[in-house]
Amino acid sequence: GNFTFTMIKPGAVNNEYIGPILAKITDAGFRIAAMKMIKLRTAQAEVFYGIHKERPFFRSLVEFMTSGPIVVAVLEKENAVQSYRELIGSTNPEEAKSGTIRKLFAESVSKNAVHGSDSVENAANEALFFFSRSEIFTESGEVKLQFDVTVPR
Ligand code: GTP
Ligand code: MG
Repeated sequence: GNFTFTMIKPGAVNNEYIGPILAKITDAGFRIAAMKMIKLRTAQAEVFYGIHKERPFFRSLVEFMTSGPIVVAVLEKENAVQSYRELIGSTNPEEAKSGTIRKLFAESVSKNAVHGSDSVENAANEALFFFSRSEIFTESGEVKLQFDVTVPR
């Protein structure tokens, strides 16, 4: 996949880390194909993180993700999903390698600065959860048409 989906989470937005995080992203060779600032509704966060709904941290995760504005973006690069997971580092910032976004900007495992899709299929689903195809701009300027998966709503 040439695309991944990211969110800059509330803690990082509140700490004015949007600019520094976007600089890390573009310095690593990603193109920003789509981007906006939004606030998640509880029902949206519950669907987005539905895979974790049986986990003990689910309610606190949803509360945190709805606690303030976030930045959502689609990033374009060769091997984008894996490349971006490497750039953000481990879920727990204490375990993240030096120089990674989470090592630099995360406060804790729950306030861990950013989200990055964990598979090509999820990247497409997550991108289309927040953006219509006409809002996703490829390098060539054409609308990305390879997303061909069911969008959870
Ligand atoms: P995302 O990119 O946000 O999906 O993180 P991830 O893929 O590295 O982790 P995962 O999908 O397993 O978990 C989703 C989010 O739930 C994480 O980013 C954390 O914010 C939160 N989370 C995961 N594990 C824990 C945990 O053990 N405790 C708490 N409080 N939060 C957790
Ligand atoms: Mg995940």
